[in-house]
Amino acid sequence: MSNIDSINKEERRFKVSKDFSENAYYKSEEQYNKLYKESIDSPDTFWPVVANKLSWNKSWTDVFVWDDYDQKKFTWFKNGKLNACYNCLDRHLETKGDQLAFIWQGEKENEVKKYTYKELHKEVCRFANVLKKKGLKKGDRVSIYLPMIPELLISMLACARLGIIHTVVFAGFSVESLIDRIKSSESKMLITCDGGYRNGKTLHFKKKIDEVLETHIASLISIIVVNRVNDDSVILNKDIETYWSNEVFSDDISDICDFEIMDSSDPLFLLYTSGTTGKPKGILHSTGGYLTHVFYSFRVIFDYKPQEVFWCTADIGWITGHSYLVYGPLSNGATTIMFEGVPTYPEPDRFWKIVEKFKVNLFYTAPTVIRSLQKQGDDFPNRCDLSSLRVLGSVGEPINPEAWLWYYEVIGKKRCPIVDTWWQTESGGFLLCPFPGAHVLKPGSASKPFFGVVPEILKEDGSRADVNEGGNLVIKKPWPGMMQTVFKDHERYLKTYWPDNKVYFSGDGAKVDQDGDFFLLGRIDDVINVSGHRLGTAEIEATLASDLRVSEAAVVPFSHEIKGQGIYAFVVMNDDQEISPELVNDLRGYVAKKVGPIAKPDKIQFSTSLPKTRSGKIMRRILKAIAEGKEDVGNTTTLVNPEIVDVLKAERV
Ligand code: WT7
Repeated sequence: MSNIDSINKEERRFKVSKDFSENAYYKSEEQYNKLYKESIDSPDTFWPVVANKLSWNKSWTDVFVWDDYDQKKFTWFKNGKLNACYNCLDRHLETKGDQLAFIWQGEKENEVKKYTYKELHKEVCRFANVLKKKGLKKGDRVSIYLPMIPELLISMLACARLGIIHTVVFAGFSVESLIDRIKSSESKMLITCDGGYRNGKTLHFKKKIDEVLETHIASLISIIVVNRVNDDSVILNKDIETYWSNEVFSDDISDICDFEIMDSSDPLFLLYTSGTTGKPKGILHSTGGYLTHVFYSFRVIFDYKPQEVFWCTADIGWITGHSYLVYGPLSNGATTIMFEGVPTYPEPDRFWKIVEKFKVNLFYTAPTVIRSLQKQGDDFPNRCDLSSLRVLGSVGEPINPEAWLWYYEVIGKKRCPIVDTWWQTESGGFLLCPFPGAHVLKPGSASKPFFGVVPEILKEDGSRADVNEGGNLVIKKPWPGMMQTVFKDHERYLKTYWPDNKVYFSGDGAKVDQDGDFFLLGRIDDVINVSGHRLGTAEIEATLASDLRVSEAAVVPFSHEIKGQGIYAFVVMNDDQEISPELVNDLRGYVAKKVGPIAKPDKIQFSTSLPKTRSGKIMRRILKAIAEGKEDVGNTTTLVNPEIVDVLKAERV
């Protein structure tokens, strides 16, 4: 690709209080610089200090080795032995056995479950014994298709205890996606449920389970059904299906279960993620490197202190939930919260009420959530006590400065640093993020590299981009949490991530400013080329969203006779806004002013919402097809709001 011309400049700066910095793990930029340098120049001395904070059954012989450079196969903590479940539970029993490990808040306000480390350990051991009884063993795969209920976390840790590779399938995915993933991973077991609760409604899963049963899946020998809604119409197929409660409370199931001693390079889990082609990739993560990365990044980036309560609002069906709801907080002995419901039910203050109720200290959510709650007005957060909050996090997409400022001022009351964490399913843990006690924060910047991460911005010809010049964000060497391969498709791993066989291609565009701060510019495939100038869509979107009347915007290219590509903007206005031709001119002028005339949208289409996946990502593929005037916009089954597609098609400008 050629260079992305980046015109926006963010001038605002925020620094945490002296008190915060003095008590943080990393207190100054100098201290960060020194340790960052050590993590790159002498990983052999840096990483052992970090990894030794975990419990190993046998120490490693080498910190990092390339097993096969051409094939991009490597091992972190070679020959080291450990168990991830042991590190998340057993090792805390002596000192934190009676501390809360896990708080589950059901969608219904009065439905709460609290587990101390001792209690969670017992539940996990019991379910691990069920897995054993069903004949599952180290290296087998288990698919987990559950909404946000405790059994999801319990079954993941039970798998980890026995060295079974879990593959969690987001419960919002269709049953076809589930079947594909069970087949692709050759899972022997499926853990699912009879239903769930969402937005005040009861969801029934029976049809989904029946469809799995009707499909012949050779590997699948058992299905465990969590009886969540106690749906009478569910009749189990006794040959293969049993209820969770019948299994776990069976007399022959003990509270004690030995853990498997795993090699550092043994896989911990598999998680499917969509790529640029239709077929999802099974991202395979290791045990030792992954756990070290999420353990330490959770600790120092959220600045976690003993006894603190952490809430990650992501669904465990995504990597964020794996790394920073389960493995990161529990390996640190933190109290982690899981919430079954949505931010706006029964009212748009639900998140803030939960923060108040459990005195949440560290809070981690996504820009899409922040924008949608910002749109609801300040009264909702203002009527809750948010004084327990200490650090706020953001993940999933570039956060536009207006949402950042609202989060900072209205939620964090200008006290709490915001850690904008850039990373990916493939990366396991954070790659770029501020160290909150050390770095000056800039709205919309993911700041600096995490330890061991060597990012670089490359232009299309492979040369390094200049300061403030956009390009491909690549990583020059493996970091501990890095994926091992695409499950059963190593070729695809090499082709997708190591196209030049030298550096890891993230697929994102970014620029680095004069202070070495990184700004993400959106996916490379979301880049627009206008008259030979490449513009990051994220930048134009953030500019549109910074107009106070705009709620949200998505920008895609469309074929343009003269310029090559034109800019098509889909814009959602705040509820009270009137749509008029003046408004179109206004917004175009605004972008021209803020970003530059080159970035002025050629077309603006207003809408009440944008097509989104269940994880909140805007489906640009569909918007591109609409902008191109196509009748067939492709598959819409993974959308939360497929009905918007026809409206957008009909109102195309
Ligand atoms: C892609 C990875 C990693 C957890 C959730 C998504 C985008 C993620 C940020 C951020 C700008 C971000 C990137 C990345 N992304 N976090 N803080 N700023 N962009 O995981 O589904 O694997 O998606 O999400 O484009 O490549 P994922």
